[in-house]
Amino acid sequence: MAKPRILSGIQTTGNLHLGNYLGAIRNWVGLQAEYDCFLFMADLHAVTVPHDPKVLAENTLKVAATYIACGIDPEESTIFVQSHLPEHSELAWLFNCITPLNWLERMIQFKEKAKKQGENVSIGLMDYPVLQAADILLYEPDIVPVGEDQKQHLELTRDIAGRLNYQFGTEKKPVLKVPEPLIRPDGARIMSLTDGTKKMSKSDPSEQSRIDITDSAQAITKKIKRAKTDPERGLEFDNPERPECNNLLGIYQLLSNQTKEAVAAECKDMGWGQFKPLLAETAVEALAPIQEKYTELMSDRTYLLQVLANGKEKAQAVATPTLKKIKAAMGFMQP
Ligand code: TYM
Repeated sequence: MAKPRILSGIQTTGNLHLGNYLGAIRNWVGLQAEYDCFLFMADLHAVTVPHDPKVLAENTLKVAATYIACGIDPEESTIFVQSHLPEHSELAWLFNCITPLNWLERMIQFKEKAKKQGENVSIGLMDYPVLQAADILLYEPDIVPVGEDQKQHLELTRDIAGRLNYQFGTEKKPVLKVPEPLIRPDGARIMSLTDGTKKMSKSDPSEQSRIDITDSAQAITKKIKRAKTDPERGLEFDNPERPECNNLLGIYQLLSNQTKEAVAAECKDMGWGQFKPLLAETAVEALAPIQEKYTELMSDRTYLLQVLANGKEKAQAVATPTLKKIKAAMGFMQP
C-alpha cells in the first residue's frame, strides 16, 4: 500500500533558525519513515517582499542543504524548488479566481507584514496564502506539518479546497482531498531571545533575537548569554508571567531530547547563571553535526543540484496530473 503523503516548505528568505528547525524540519525528519514526504523551498514566496536578486538562488540552495543536513534523506523524500514547477503559479491563479478577497484581508500574517512594508505592499504579499494553498493541494497530502504561525494559512487552504469541491465537484466525487494540519505542541512556537512574547523570526531586525542553525559556537553562546531573562530564581514552565523562562526551558528540552517533566525537575532550583551555560552547551552540541554536514553539502554543488533535479521530476509526476484534473473539473478546453 502507498504511504500517506506529507507536504511542507520553508521560505528562502535568509538563514533558517531554531524555530524553523524545532517547529518544522525536525518533525519532518521524524515522519520520514512512515510518510512519503514532499518538501520544498518556497522561493516564490520569498519575493512577496522586496528581495535581493543576487542572493535568491544561493538562499534556495542553502535551504536545500539545511534540509539534508538536518536529516531529510533525498533518497527517501522528494526535495524540490517551488519555482521549478510552473504548476504552483498556475494553480495559484485558478485559486485566485475562486477565493473571496475578504478571506485574504483577514490573514494575520498579511496584516503584520503589510504594516512593515508601509506604502510598498505588493499584491503578491496579499495573495501569499493562495499560492500556499496551491503548493499544498497540488500534492493532495494527507497532512501538512508546520509551526503554529501557519495555522491560519492551513485553514484557508482547507477552505479553498472545500470551495473548489463544492463548485466543481460532487459530494461523492470531490475534486481534491482536503488535508489536515499537523502542529506538534512541542516546538510549535519558539519565541524570540529578546522578547519571550514574540515569535522567533527571520524578519526580526535584531540578530540577537534568534539562533540560526548555522551560527558558530561563539555566536550561540553569546546570544544565549545575552538572552532576556527575569530576576526570579528557580526555573519553571508555563508561568504566564515568565515567557522567557518558558521559552528557554522549552528549547533546552527539545535540544536535549528530554521530557518536559525531566527538565522541570532538573531546572527547578537553578538560577540563570547556571542554566544559560548548560543551554548554550546543549545547543552547540545539538547543532554541531548539522553544521558539519551542511558545510560538506555546500561544497558539493553538483550533488545538491542533482538532488533538486530529481526532486523536480518526482514532484512534477504528482503536480502535473493534479493540475490537469482541476482544470478539467473547471471546464477548460484541453490543448
Ligand atoms: P516560514 O518560512 O516562515 O517557516 C517555515 C516553517 O517553520 C515554522 N516556524 C516556526 N515554528 C516554531 N517557532 C517559530 N518561531 C517558527 N518560525 C517559523 C513555520 O511554522 C513553518 O512550518 N508560508 C510558509 C512557507 C510555505 C508553506 C507552504 C508551508 C509556503 N508554502 C506550503 C507549508 C505548506 C512560511 O512562510 O514558512
